[in-house]
Parts: sequence; C-alpha cells; structure tokens
Amino acid sequence: MKILIATEKPFAAEAVKGIRQVIENAGMEAVLLEKYTDKSQLLDAVKEVDAIIIRSDIVDADVLNAAGKLKIVVRAGAGYDNVDLAAATAHNVVVMNTPGQNSNAVAELALGLMVYSARNFYDGSSGAELLGKKLGIHAYGNVGRNVARIAKGFGMEIYAYDAFCPAEVIEKDGVKALSSAEELYKTCQYVSLHIPATAETKNSINYDLLNQMPGKAVLINTARKEVIHEADLAKLMEVRPDFKYLTDITPGNDAELKEKFPKRYFSTPKKMGAQTAEANNNAGIAAANQIVDFLLNGNTKYKVN
Ligand code: 3PG
Repeated sequence: MKILIATEKPFAAEAVKGIRQVIENAGMEAVLLEKYTDKSQLLDAVKEVDAIIIRSDIVDADVLNAAGKLKIVVRAGAGYDNVDLAAATAHNVVVMNTPGQNSNAVAELALGLMVYSARNFYDGSSGAELLGKKLGIHAYGNVGRNVARIAKGFGMEIYAYDAFCPAEVIEKDGVKALSSAEELYKTCQYVSLHIPATAETKNSINYDLLNQMPGKAVLINTARKEVIHEADLAKLMEVRPDFKYLTDITPGNDAELKEKFPKRYFSTPKKMGAQTAEANNNAGIAAANQIVDFLLNGNTKYKVN
C-alpha cells in the first residue's frame, strides 16, 4: 500500500520522519510530495496511491478522478473545506480530519495577535493591556476552548457563542455563553473567530455585525478568510478609525487594506497558525495512524463524509 504525503506547505522535518515511521512500521510505503507549485504535480503523484495525507491542499474532483486506487484522504488538521466531500463520496473515498491535534498552536497564535494589536504592532508607542478586556470567542470548538484557557491567564473576561455547543459545556470552563453572534459582537472589544467555512458561514462576518462591536474593537481571524465579507470589512474600517483587523489568512483585498490601514491591519505572510513543530507532529502522526487503522482494520472514527 502506498501513502502519499502531499503538502504544498510542508510539515516540519521531524514530523515527516514520524509519519514515515508509522507508515513503514505498518509495512506500507510513504511517498512525499512537498512544495509543489502546480496542480499537475499533484495529479501525477496521486495516480498509484491508496491514501493521501494533506494539509490545506485542494482535493477536488480532478484529483479524485486521477487517483484510481485511492481509498482514504486524511486532512492533517481541523478544517476540511479544501476537500470536495461529495466527489470523494461518489468515488467511494473516505475523508477524515484530525480534530484537536493542532488547536493549541492556532490558539497561541490568536492570543499572540491580540498582544501584537494591543501593543500597536510593536511600534514602540504606548499600547494597552489585555487584562480585564472582554474577549468574544466565536465558536467554541477545539481552538475556541484553547483560546479560552490561555486568555484566562491574561485575565480577560471571556464570552463565547457557538450555534451548536450547549451553553453548559461553555460555562463549565468559566466562560459566559451568549445566545447569538450579535450579542457576542455587541459585548466584546476583542472577537476571535473560530468558525469553519461553510455555505452558512461564508461572508457572514459583515458590516452590520462588526459595527456592533464597542470602541477600540479588534477582530482576530485564525479561521478562514471566506467567513469575512471583505468589502464590508474595508468599508467598516474606513468608517471606524478605532477598528483593527489581524488575520492569519491573507484576504482577497490584502493590498487595499495594507495601503489604507497600515496601523490597523495585519496579515501573516503565510497561514501559520498550525505551523509549529508540535502541531505538525501531532496532526501528521495522527493522520498516518488513522490511515493505517482504516486500511488494516476499517476504523472510520474520524470520517467526515
Ligand atoms: C486547520 O484547519 O487545521 C488549520 O487551518 C491549519 O491549516 P494548515 O495545515 O494548512 O496550516
């Protein structure tokens, strides 16, 4: 059996070593395709493989059509919006993610961006502190929970809204559960986004919602760029000179935001929330183990399609 590790943005070398070990210990072969620059390279690499480990790499109908022997794709990470689930199901290919494996890394970055914002992008001027400030966590999944845990250490007052997570679960962590997104944005000076990109959430973070945030508002996005209504965000930042946006996912209107709001807008050069040695190890090795367990024992625990 051949397992392809297809990562345009590679895992740390140590993680690749660990992934290989899991695969080879199971008597299977690991194939590596890193830093590819063209889809044709991926289409070529998938031809003979039984399984693929990916990160944000796109697995669409073309990839599935080219992969005649493919049985399983595991997204080493949380969000699987980069995989065409319907096409995978049609090809009888199982899709899994590795929930929770990189969530601390993403949460640490979210807090890092909050500090960066509070200290005026480290420009040497007098900034503010996070202590006592209200933080709204939009969606209380694995990353949201870790954000709450770390933000407690900063002494922030923490609120969360999650359309699916019961209030009791949120409140057990000492976080105040709110009953709507509107309430969350109205209440909190800082909002950290942790919603997935779905048909319902795309463009949902719009002008009306953001404009409810109190003065000196800070929006942190370590989730997905698609959830932001980008034209609305630009309009709002124009109207609200107190509003800051810091993101780990380069928006479509990056150049415009950079030019107009250099002191209030920041985007990482490449998505780096999950880009730590630890997260690469955790997610990559979990993905390899899930593939081996599926191919040998039929375990479908983390199947998402
Ligand atoms: C995820 O959904 O797990 C994160 O967005 C990480 O994505 P990455 O593996 O491309 O860094």
